Amino acid sequence: MASAEPTVNFNVLHRTCKLVVLLCFLHISVTVFFYVRSLDIRFSFVQNQQTRAGITGPIGTTGSTEAAKPPLEAKAAAEPDELAAGKSLKKCPQTSPLLVGPLRVEFNIPVSLDEVEKTNPNVGPGGRYKPKDCVALQKVAIIIPFRKRDEHLKFWLYYLHPILQRQQLDYGVYVINQDGDEIFNRAKLLNVGYAEAMKEYDYDCFIFSDVDLIPMDDRNIYKCFSQPRHLSVSMDKFGFRLPYNQYFGGVSSMMKGQYLSINGFPNNYWGWGGEDDDIYNRLASKGMTISRPSGDVGKCRMIRHERDKQNEPNPQRFDRIAHTRDTMNKDGIKSLSYKVVSKERLALYTKITVDIGKP
Ligand code: BGC
Repeated sequence: MASAEPTVNFNVLHRTCKLVVLLCFLHISVTVFFYVRSLDIRFSFVQNQQTRAGITGPIGTTGSTEAAKPPLEAKAAAEPDELAAGKSLKKCPQTSPLLVGPLRVEFNIPVSLDEVEKTNPNVGPGGRYKPKDCVALQKVAIIIPFRKRDEHLKFWLYYLHPILQRQQLDYGVYVINQDGDEIFNRAKLLNVGYAEAMKEYDYDCFIFSDVDLIPMDDRNIYKCFSQPRHLSVSMDKFGFRLPYNQYFGGVSSMMKGQYLSINGFPNNYWGWGGEDDDIYNRLASKGMTISRPSGDVGKCRMIRHERDKQNEPNPQRFDRIAHTRDTMNKDGIKSLSYKVVSKERLALYTKITVDIGKP
């Protein structure tokens, strides 16, 4: 009897080993399955970025044309058969049917402008676009204050052009490049962007966007609302939440009338910080409130970077913010002065290099 015991133990051991091997195999299979599935999702996200926008058409080759202005009211009444006859177009719907929702945004693979150009064949010179099949609800100028951030701009163009096309906007992209090496002035560059864009086309809405911020959901529409809009409401940099209630930095939008009613933006915030708080104060002083998308739809990613040279925190910002109401009528779009150094109508954007002086 005593001699049967080791055989039983061996059998148990053998079975246990088999079970362990089976469990390992199962574990590996499940891991491989989910890994392959994630690759698949990734691939379809990239597809989302690039393909669906292709269904709409190009705009003319000149940056601005009177002929390009759509007579909105007349077109709103157009019938489908008129559309087919090419006489006039219907208004685009309130919600674009081309939207896809959440997007994967990554910055680990560099993009080339050639690639962006090829995948956005319907974007016209100067970064202009409007839908071919319907009349966009708004004419939107996107203003990007800029200096020496070409790598970031490539990502911005790569992600935003397909998104803006899916949003069925009539839009133009203006990169306002501060000439020279003087201290940076974001808000003054935004004012220049407004003034220069207005010379090109009858824009009714303005998006003011940092070059390093990319929306993670195309339902965050880059258009204007009945109140000034803050679009970058949940940035990864701030743990996907607002850093404070009055925060108005990153990406915002304003109708022409809203912008003019606050005399545009301050011209005297040199260096980092405070100008967005001043803009918030201007809006609040005129009784306006801030409209925002939900935290989910308003998610966005910032391209990590070191602080730019010549953009140190502005020590005067606290004092200036405290006096917005006293200064805003004197300092703004009405008192803006600058010199255009060059204007380039590039394939994906209009680059305007400007001398905005120094403090
Ligand atoms: C600055 C703003 C900045 C915000 C978030 C504030 O202290 O005044 O300009 O956008 O911090 O970084």
